[in-house]
Amino acid sequence: MAIRSIIVAPDPRLKAKSEAVGTVDEGLRRLMNDMRETMYAAAGIGLAAIQIGVPKQVIVIDLSAPKDPEPLYLVNPKIVDASEATVSQEEGCLSLPSQYAEVKRHETIEVAYLDYWGKPQTLKAEGMLAICIQHEMDHLKGVLFVDRISALKRNMILRRLSKQKKLQPVAS
Ligand code: NI
Repeated sequence: MAIRSIIVAPDPRLKAKSEAVGTVDEGLRRLMNDMRETMYAAAGIGLAAIQIGVPKQVIVIDLSAPKDPEPLYLVNPKIVDASEATVSQEEGCLSLPSQYAEVKRHETIEVAYLDYWGKPQTLKAEGMLAICIQHEMDHLKGVLFVDRISALKRNMILRRLSKQKKLQPVAS
């Protein structure tokens, strides 16, 4: 297992659309293990494969504290049902470090996906879990939480991140 580096916005790679996974095999499980390690190392609650530069429809989520050795893995997730009711909550993202904004999401969702072993599953989610799944699924479409807020706020956040990047020595 390896901790991979997380791509920070603004970066065109984060705009890529991720492809559906054909087979959940050992190679994909290695990717999922790396994603788990990377997410834990960064103290995050969710990570999409594209954030480490892999354009595949794979997500890892763990809302538990202390961290669960078996987090939730979602391969090829699809929302099969969503409430009309929405909630707004402040979100952050490992690809937009130290930036937060309120984003509107469906309050409850039902999602179909393949698990770590490639077995089809469905999950009804509400609260933080529902928000987190929607946030991570956006990454698979190349959408960041800042794409769901006003242009004014988005530009402010992206400008701040660009400035931070210039100040930091280039890593990897
Ligand atoms: Ni994110």
